[in-house]
Amino acid sequence: MNMAISSDVPVFAELDPLDPDQVADPHFLLAQARRNHPVFFMPKYGWYVVTRLDDITRIANDPETFSNRMFVTVPEVPAGFRTRLPLGFPMKVQLAAADPPAHGRLKRYMQAALSPRIIAAHADQIRQIARQLVDEMLRSPDRQANLVTSYADRIPMMAIAALLDAPVEDYDRYRLWVDASLELITTNPSPERLECLAETLQDFDSFIRKLIHDRRERPGEDAISKMLAAADEGDALGEEEILGLVSSMLLGGTDTTSTAIGNMVWNLLHHRDQWEAVRADRSLLAKAFEESVRFRDPGRGPIRVATQDVEIRGIPIPKGSLIQLCTMAADHDETVFDHADRFDIFRNDLKIAPAWGRGIHMCVGRLLAHLEGEIALDILLDHVPDLELVGDGGRLYTPQLMMPTLRCLNVSW
Ligand code: HEM
Repeated sequence: MNMAISSDVPVFAELDPLDPDQVADPHFLLAQARRNHPVFFMPKYGWYVVTRLDDITRIANDPETFSNRMFVTVPEVPAGFRTRLPLGFPMKVQLAAADPPAHGRLKRYMQAALSPRIIAAHADQIRQIARQLVDEMLRSPDRQANLVTSYADRIPMMAIAALLDAPVEDYDRYRLWVDASLELITTNPSPERLECLAETLQDFDSFIRKLIHDRRERPGEDAISKMLAAADEGDALGEEEILGLVSSMLLGGTDTTSTAIGNMVWNLLHHRDQWEAVRADRSLLAKAFEESVRFRDPGRGPIRVATQDVEIRGIPIPKGSLIQLCTMAADHDETVFDHADRFDIFRNDLKIAPAWGRGIHMCVGRLLAHLEGEIALDILLDHVPDLELVGDGGRLYTPQLMMPTLRCLNVSW
């Protein structure tokens, strides 16, 4: 590792989340960082990275010093769309970008929408969705498929639609809306592109607002009705807040879970004995999913902003700096996990993988993701027990700084 030390701050110039080799195998360099320089600066992207679980947990529990007020900004709606998008872009309010006290209030509503009861009430429908997708996949005449596009990517989007009591078969539209939302907040779109995104997202806006109006009139056992019902005396969610929470669900709960499902299948097919063990004993489904999320984190880790000059492990970090809590590195922290680089669904030192985050922003969708992941695997084990990777699976991740999303996993049967 070529560490250039400048004013007491270790700089790790080799680490580049967009380098295709590091996207394919991120853990080699992250392990070096975790051992030798657990807090370092990445000059190319201009942020600090924290790699050990104890540091991440401490930071995540101190939102006053480490804020979630994101560096991500949602642009203003272009002039020609102001009447059609009167509340702004649908993701203007984001739970993950809020600090206390606003965060606590929004999270309470989100927890009501994603409560264990609501999730359990939709389990049968999610199972039916997965079953149908497998049946379609198995119709492929050459007995091969990209498991991500035909299965893993569809389940999370359709599961959220089910939770909203919206038509699950509109998958392509939801995909378009999620992609447009991500483009809006992660790139700096040109004025022409912004108009296109506004056109697409206007559709999303009217779709959700219609659902909100329907649920106000006829409440049911769905996520929006539960958000509306969670209102206290003197407090209720504004329409732009409901829009923001629904888009938080879609942005937070689709590519993460899809990547987690694909990674789980890859891990288990690479360790066929563990695939067979879960096949024989389905009480291992939850462990298989949790270990997969730990072993290959679907994200690299959330970002915080230092609200004052601070020191982490003696490294001075100035006010206003961006700090990545690299959960992907913490998942393999050898001071926390035995043989951290080994995929082992039987390990007993794993309760909640660092990949879910820590502190007040810890993932609110973990239960839903587990349900989807476990059902996805259960159905594959039942219907395609002889599933195999084509070659090594040809895994392809989109190189992204925060979320290297799995886009291809070739399987055969
Ligand atoms: C394997 C799948 C998933 C992983 C690895 C994951 C990971 C994470 C992480 C690391 C955070 C913390 C962000 C932070 O500290 O700033 C988070 C927050 C969040 N997640 Fe997930 N997530 C997954 C699935 C889901 C699902 C299925 C949903 C909803 C449908 C969801 C919705 C959210 C939301 C709304 C937040 C913000 C919570 C807050 O700020 O309090 N996630 N997730």
